[in-house]
Amino acid sequence: MKPNPGGILQLDDIVGRDSLVAYLQLTLEQQSVVLVAERRTGKTHVLEKFKAAAPKNWVVIKRDIGAVRSATEFVQYVMADLYPHLQATTNFRNWLQSLGEQLGGAQIGPVKLPNFSTKQWKQVLGDTIAHLDGINAIERVVFLWDELPWMLEIIASQNPQEAMELLDALRALRQQHAQKIRMVFTGSLGLHHIVRGLKAQGYNNTPVNDMLSIEVAPLLLPDAARLVERLFTDNRLVAATPDIHEQTALAVDCIPFYIHHVVSALLKNPASLQKPVDTQAVNAVISHGIHSSDNPWDLQHYEERTLAYYGKQRSECLALLDAVASSMATLPIADAIRRAKAVYPLVDQQQWLELSRLLERDHYFQRDEDGKIGFKFTVVKRWWVWHRSLSMVQAGGAA
Ligand SMILES: Nc1ncnc2c1ncn2[C@@H]1O[C@H](COP(=O)(O)OP(=O)(O)OP(=O)(O)O)[C@@H](O)[C@H]1O
Ligand SMILES: [Mg+2]
Repeated sequence: MKPNPGGILQLDDIVGRDSLVAYLQLTLEQQSVVLVAERRTGKTHVLEKFKAAAPKNWVVIKRDIGAVRSATEFVQYVMADLYPHLQATTNFRNWLQSLGEQLGGAQIGPVKLPNFSTKQWKQVLGDTIAHLDGINAIERVVFLWDELPWMLEIIASQNPQEAMELLDALRALRQQHAQKIRMVFTGSLGLHHIVRGLKAQGYNNTPVNDMLSIEVAPLLLPDAARLVERLFTDNRLVAATPDIHEQTALAVDCIPFYIHHVVSALLKNPASLQKPVDTQAVNAVISHGIHSSDNPWDLQHYEERTLAYYGKQRSECLALLDAVASSMATLPIADAIRRAKAVYPLVDQQQWLELSRLLERDHYFQRDEDGKIGFKFTVVKRWWVWHRSLSMVQAGGAA
């Protein structure tokens, strides 16, 4: 296996995830799922692994819909994805043709799709899914819709009503076809931000409360260490000590994306191939990945996205992130708020609490059993401290 940070891996190169994939399948026997995770933790590859292992009488359709611009276009993709499964066993092809006769349509893959008018998309979606009912050989159809929140964001920016209707239509379909269809929503943008935005515009529904939320955490330590070891071995890197694989995995929070980056950076330096790789060499490439204005690990995103996520509260949000990042250890929420409040004294306690919960939901923070908060990922914390030139403070308050 070659390092491939951010690329698409061969199935054999997707390490670990077996118990998560098994749990996903178990859940999908009963209900639909929202897969939540921080970006780059490996959601897309979990979907790939699930798809490869799904039961034979399940049809699993995986589609990245992040660039879809309207409900009509979305429905066209659903039709195109179902077409190979429906054309032989139902009157779907005839139905499609009769629909297509109304207007010329778009070519998606092998199918020429009808260019139905915007008003009809909901009806067409319902009719398309209804064609599945008669097919006994298919026990279940699972739609894996990657980057669905981005699609909703794009649609909502032009037509919030359409985004609301699409969410409701999908929920209604899950209820009408409770045995046959399942949906998995995932993406690098939290769905809760989209729903929050729509609620501010009058949306009152809870569009995913029938779906189970499952988190894609980083890899388990043994799997992450195994990934490091395999990348080392396959690329002729020799470990100076046996624990170097585990140490490397831990230093990047067991996130496979950074592991691939570390090995890629080691290979860039010919010295790594000439002598065994030790902790110092690994730490040097991690430090460069985090502390470099070239932004090689794309960490800049953690600050940039606050603009879209937190809108008018962005400044307070940055103050809270700074307060927590600059603490050496985890700290009680009240202390974190007190520090942030020193910068914005007029913001009330409730708003700070809501912000801290939102930051937790967006995977910046995590709270331990005692209720103390800290950054969830050390890589992000290290970058935040460096990028924002923060001075570290003891948990009690002394610099
Ligand atoms: N199970 C795995 N084994 C090995 N490497 C992995 C695994 N999962 C992810 N990776 C590495 O991490 C990178 C990012 O993974 P992936 O694209 O699945 O993450 P994602 O959560 O979908 O990211 P995004 O939030 O950008 O959509 C991959 O290109 C690959 O380098
Ligand atoms: Mg992805």
